[in-house]
Amino acid sequence: MMRLFVALPLPVDVRAQLTAMQSGLPGGRWIDPQNMHLTLRFIGEMPEPDARDLSLALSEIHVPTFELRLSGIGHFDRRGSVHSVWARVEKSDALLHLQAKIESVVVRSGGQVEKRKFTPHVTLARLKDTPLERIGPWLECSGALNVPAFPVSEFALFQSQLGHGAARYTELAAYPLLA
Ligand code: 2AM
Repeated sequence: MMRLFVALPLPVDVRAQLTAMQSGLPGGRWIDPQNMHLTLRFIGEMPEPDARDLSLALSEIHVPTFELRLSGIGHFDRRGSVHSVWARVEKSDALLHLQAKIESVVVRSGGQVEKRKFTPHVTLARLKDTPLERIGPWLECSGALNVPAFPVSEFALFQSQLGHGAARYTELAAYPLLA
């Protein structure tokens, strides 16, 4: 079995801009810039033969390149306990169109239907049981985050290997968008 997800890699200068935000968060573990990405679809465990079929099906998605913008900061919490903070990705028709195509390919390749709403984001830090009040000032200071439009030229299939500490992500295949 392989633990998989489909994501947009981010240009190195965008990751550098995000790294500049990474200070002063109590109780946070920062994401390494080389691990920053925008998940389009988390797949989870999939048998290797299905993963090969999935990769082939993903290569048949042909959509034009588009631009992305990041603006503002968000967080995920469970009952007031924050577990991650992230850069908000502006939704656009092009992004949602690509995400919907990937969703249908993943389901056709045997992946579970995703019931949660797509919230495009780039995780900046993971936290452990941090009360929202504790990071309020950081959220306030960082909320002005704004990364001007940058082009997206490909999406990719990644493997995630869990271990002690941060997961290791390996790009298995990249699929170019149409220029
Ligand atoms: P996250 O950054 O918000 O944690 C690899 O783990 C990627 O898949 C990460 O971007 C992660 O999102 C996302 N991911 C991990 N587990 C997930 C799950 N159960 N549901 C949705 N996305 C998940």
